[in-house]
Amino acid sequence: MALTREQVEQYNRDGYLTPIRVMSAAEARRFRDRMEASEAKVGGPLQGNYRHKTHLLYTWADELVHHPAVIDAVESVLGPDILCWNTNLFAKEASSAGFISWHQDSTYWGLDPSDVITAWVALSPSNPKSGCMRVIPGTHTVDQLPHVDTFHKDNLLSRGQEIAVDVDLAKAVDIVLEPGEMSLHHIKIVHGSEPNRANDRRIGLAIRYIPTYVRQLKVRDSALLVRGVDRYHHFDYEERPKADADTAALAAHKDAMDRQVRALYQGTDKTAFRA
Ligand code: NI
Repeated sequence: MALTREQVEQYNRDGYLTPIRVMSAAEARRFRDRMEASEAKVGGPLQGNYRHKTHLLYTWADELVHHPAVIDAVESVLGPDILCWNTNLFAKEASSAGFISWHQDSTYWGLDPSDVITAWVALSPSNPKSGCMRVIPGTHTVDQLPHVDTFHKDNLLSRGQEIAVDVDLAKAVDIVLEPGEMSLHHIKIVHGSEPNRANDRRIGLAIRYIPTYVRQLKVRDSALLVRGVDRYHHFDYEERPKADADTAALAAHKDAMDRQVRALYQGTDKTAFRA
């Protein structure tokens, strides 16, 4: 499932690549069913910290971040030694107001250098009606843009951060995905998304991968080695869940999230992710 040289060149030029089929629609449906079973157990959509580093809590998310077809494509860009640094579950409910302002992921993550890739795996249809991700091609090569924190209640980002300068929306491209397809995007590409106006949920798991040489500049952070070897030891190692949200998984997740909250909310008075 490695990418072709043309695909890698396209990613390096545009800052994204899509669509890439990594599993059948039926397999994606099984992942969705397991995710929704996890929701049923907590009595509703996964909220707050459960939406982040979800792979340390649930076996279905752990299997997704280790999915060979996903990692094969990522390896084509990042090389053979790969850490999973984070996951973010983006479930936009049918006909709901949640949106994502235009932003660069690099703004608060503290990772250096910017060799950071997101594999966005669709578990339901993601298209303009359901509020799919939109990107501005080529913007991964510009410098870090200034952002402002809005903490807007319907913004699904941690700080409601948005780019403080005008974005050329005429250049925006819709990332249309069917269940079982994924896109790849660079940590610096300008992207955002609109609310879900469809009658199904829009569910995707954003998996953040880094090569082992990347550093976290803000805190002593943790990550999970998913392929190759780590000769750098810039991150403490995380524990994979053996059962869904059991005592050990909850403890491992809490430890990792405490570090992440310190990094992402540095300079604000926030001490936990918003629900
Ligand atoms: Ni983002």
